[in-house]
Amino acid sequence: MANIEINSQDGKSFSGDVLIVPVFSGRERHRLPLAISKVARQVMEENDFKADYLELVPLHHPNGVKDCRWMLLVGLGEEEAVTFNKLRKALGAAARYSLKKGWKAVGIVSPATASMDHDEVQIAVLEGAMLSDYDFTLCKGKPEPRSFDRIELFTNGDDTRKARRQLAQIQVGVDACHRVRDLVNTPAGELHPESFAAKAQKLAGKHKLGFEVIEGEALAKGGFRGVMAVGQGSARGPKVVKLEYAPKEKAKKHVVLVGKGVCFDSGGLSLKDASGMETMKDDMAGAAIVMATLAACAELQVPVQVTGLMGLVENMPSGTSYKPGDVLKSRNGKTIEVLNTDAEGRLVLADLLDYASEMKPDHIVDLATLTGACMIALGDGVSGIFGEDQKLVDRLLSAGNSTGEYLWQLPLVADYRESLKSHIADIKNITGKRWGGAITAAMFLREFVDHASWVHVDLSSCWADAEKDYRTPGGTGEGPRWLLEWLNS
Ligand code: BES
Ligand code: ZN
Ligand code: ZN
Repeated sequence: MANIEINSQDGKSFSGDVLIVPVFSGRERHRLPLAISKVARQVMEENDFKADYLELVPLHHPNGVKDCRWMLLVGLGEEEAVTFNKLRKALGAAARYSLKKGWKAVGIVSPATASMDHDEVQIAVLEGAMLSDYDFTLCKGKPEPRSFDRIELFTNGDDTRKARRQLAQIQVGVDACHRVRDLVNTPAGELHPESFAAKAQKLAGKHKLGFEVIEGEALAKGGFRGVMAVGQGSARGPKVVKLEYAPKEKAKKHVVLVGKGVCFDSGGLSLKDASGMETMKDDMAGAAIVMATLAACAELQVPVQVTGLMGLVENMPSGTSYKPGDVLKSRNGKTIEVLNTDAEGRLVLADLLDYASEMKPDHIVDLATLTGACMIALGDGVSGIFGEDQKLVDRLLSAGNSTGEYLWQLPLVADYRESLKSHIADIKNITGKRWGGAITAAMFLREFVDHASWVHVDLSSCWADAEKDYRTPGGTGEGPRWLLEWLNS
C-alpha cells in the first residue's frame, strides 16, 4: 500500500519518478504553477496535446521541475463539463500508465477549478489514483505486485485538512474494492465454497464480525433445498455463510445484504459452451461484495446494523447433479420446476431471500451475477437495479452516481410473472424465451421475498475484459463503494 502525503506546495519541488499534471482543455485556463504551466502550454501550442478527456502525454525530464524524471500530462476535457467521476477516471488512467511503467514515487498536482469544491477535488483525484493502484499477481510464477511506494498530492496553497481527515475513509472503500477484485480474479480451482468460507471466517475474526456457517446436515435442517440442489453435483459441498456487524451504539436500522456466491458456474447438466464458461469464476461477485462490505462496515463503524448472507456453491455436472425437470421445494415452501440448471443463481437466492425476510430487517439488498441478459441490456459498465421501494432505489442510484459505479433501474413487470408459470409446480426457473431475461429473473426472485423494502442488483458491471481508467482487467471491484456511501449516511 502506497504511503500517501498531502501537502499545500505547488509541485515544482516534487522529487520522484513522475509528476502527474491534470490539464483542462482551452489554452487560457491553466491555473498551474508557472514552471509547470509553461511546459504544458508549450506542448499544447505545438499541438501535441489537446487536453481531451483521458488524453495522456508523458514528458521526459521536463524543464523547470527540479528532480522529477517524468511529467505526465493528463487531459480533463473542458472545464465546464468536468465532474468528480471524470477527475477520478482521468487521474486513474494516468496512475495506471505510471504503474505499468514501474514508476513508484508519484506526485499529483490537484487541479483547480472555480466550479468545484477544492476539498472534494483533492479527494476525487486521490481516490482515482488509489483505485488504480492494483495488480493481480497471485497466478504469476514470481508474484511481484506492482504498487506505488508514495503518492504525493500538491494542492498549490489550498487547505489540505479535509482531504487528510477523509483519507482513512477513502482507503477503506479502496481496500474493499481491491478485495472484491482479488476474490473475483482468483481462479475457481483456488476459491471454492470451502476456501471462500474460510476466508470469510478469517476476515470476521479480524474485524470482530459475527460469523456462522451453515453446511451439511444443517443446510437440510434449515430448509436450504435450493442451495443444496445447485451444489449437489460438486465434490465441494455448498455452504451458507452469515456475517454480522452491529455498531457500538444501538442501530436505528438493520440491512441484510445477500450475495450470490456461485464459485464456478459451468451451467451444470445444462452445460454452458466453452466460451460461456471462460469468466464463470466471477459468478461469486455478489458474495465477494457482501464480504468486503461487511469488513468495511466494521472499519468505518457505520451507524446501521448489517447482516451479510452468502450462498456459496459450485454448479457442476456430474452423476449427482440436479437435473432439468427436477422439482425442488424452496425454503419458503414454494415448489420450483428446474428446466435449466444454468439458471441456478435464482435457486440459491430464493432460499437466502426467504431467510433474510425472516430476520425482518428494514431493507434487503441482493447482489448477483444473475443473467447474461442484463449484460446484453446494459453492457459491462452499468449494473441493473430492480425494486418497488422507489425511495431506496433512488438512494442507491444516487450512491452509484456519486461513486462512479453506475446503476440503472430496470422494471419489475407484473405481466411477465405469467411466463414463469409451471404446469406441475408453483413456478419454473426459466421462461423458455430470451426476451427480458433480466426482468423475468428478478420477477422470479420477487416470489421469495416477504418484505416491503427489497432491491435486487444484477451485477453486469462486475467484470470487464479490458482495462479502463482506474479499472483493471477482470474483476472491477464495483459494489462496496456505493453500498458504503449508502450505509454510511
Ligand atoms: N451466471 C450466469 C449469468 C451470467 C452469464 C452473468 C454471463 C454474466 C455473464 C447465470 O447463472 C446464468 O447462467 N444465467 C442464464 C439464465 C438462463 C438459463 C435463463 C443466462 O443468463 O444465460
Ligand atoms: Zn448459470
Ligand atoms: Zn450463475
